[in-house]
Amino acid sequence: MSDKRTFFSTRLGVLAATVGSAVGLGNIWRFPYEAGTHGGGAFLLCYIFFVFLIGVPVICSEFAMGRRSRTGIPGAFQHLNKGRSGWNWIGWIGIAGAVMIISFYSVVAGWTLEYTIDSAVGMFSDHVQHNRHAEFLAFTQGWKPSLWVVVFMGINGLVLLGGVQKGIERVSNILMPLLFLILLAFCINSLLLPGAGEGLRFLFNPDFSQLTPTVILGAMGQAFFSLSLGMGCMITYASYFKDDTPLMKTSIQIATLDTLVAILSGVIIFPAVFSFGMSPAEGPTLVFEVLPNIFQQMSGGRIWSTLFFLLLAVASLTSLISVSEIAIAFFVDHLKMKRHMATLTLTLVGTILGVLCALSFGPLKNLDLFNAFDYISSNILLPLGGMSTSIFAGWVMKRSTLYAELQGKGKLPRAAGEAIVISLRWIAPACVLAVFIAGLMI
Ligand code: PFF
Repeated sequence: MSDKRTFFSTRLGVLAATVGSAVGLGNIWRFPYEAGTHGGGAFLLCYIFFVFLIGVPVICSEFAMGRRSRTGIPGAFQHLNKGRSGWNWIGWIGIAGAVMIISFYSVVAGWTLEYTIDSAVGMFSDHVQHNRHAEFLAFTQGWKPSLWVVVFMGINGLVLLGGVQKGIERVSNILMPLLFLILLAFCINSLLLPGAGEGLRFLFNPDFSQLTPTVILGAMGQAFFSLSLGMGCMITYASYFKDDTPLMKTSIQIATLDTLVAILSGVIIFPAVFSFGMSPAEGPTLVFEVLPNIFQQMSGGRIWSTLFFLLLAVASLTSLISVSEIAIAFFVDHLKMKRHMATLTLTLVGTILGVLCALSFGPLKNLDLFNAFDYISSNILLPLGGMSTSIFAGWVMKRSTLYAELQGKGKLPRAAGEAIVISLRWIAPACVLAVFIAGLMI
């Protein structure tokens, strides 16, 4: 444990940083295409169910573990297991997952920078007929995405070099309100489009015949990914919380704001998709291939598209910072590195792996690290890490320690504490296991 550990200085800073971690590509890029391909409303309902039934208790447990142990992973597991290292493997899953997420996430984050610039120079507001699919393919197969990975990882590294207070907290305090403002402006614009109602119906009218194991697995994976759970991210951030940060309240605020942003992203994207007669089931390229066509037909499309991709870039940055902090805390707390050396190491390794992922669309197509890392981390490591963490917090960690942390300086209603323990001990592991097995069988 580092004796010079710094802390988030204000409650607002805690909220901005944790919501900044949760709100990211997962909400604005992944959620709409997952919902779009999995029947809209049915997916949304499942997603909300998982966020509150499993997500909130698991955030609470990660917070309690991080603040009590005052160290990142895997140290937190050892500290709370009376110094024994038997459960440290969950931490190793987290580190492996974090490295994989950094690698593919930096690629998509890089795409958002290219698209922000393309928008600003008017490429999505001209009067030329485009083949967006071919343009997107040509872009992703070329060398530019690798360059953007280097740029994005560089910005990420600079913020992290500033440390918890002067880097992460300060940047989140500025970028998160900006993100909410852009999001609201966008929502109003989308709702005013002709035929917006059809898009809203798609998102909010659940068709239960769509509820298959694939949809349910997708919604659960999405909930873990979106809330940054299952890889020690919230453990790491909570190790920088002050003693008076209310853990339960903060968990509920994060889950609510994160879900709100996912819904708002749907409210932005689906009315536009339906209004311009496009298909919501385009898959991962929905945002990059469908939206530019829509911007082209919109009045003020140049400004709206620039704002939209900027929004995506900002959201990606605050999330990438948080995944990176998992590894940096590990280097500092476990390997006793200096923070600047840890940041440099992470930036270097992340950039190399990120470039290899970026090249998965071109020269390294056969290796396809991008999809491999995305699949392994989101569908295997996150649920596995989340399940093991909740088993650890529910069964191994002392109940009095969990309650003491959750209670903090306030009062923990008995029923709330018990509900969390029941979810951690039984509901979360059982749900993850059931959905996981069902998913492997299809
Ligand atoms: N929650 C982020 C998003 O929705 O984009 C992604 C993420 C961040 C996943 C941090 C995992 C993590 F540890």
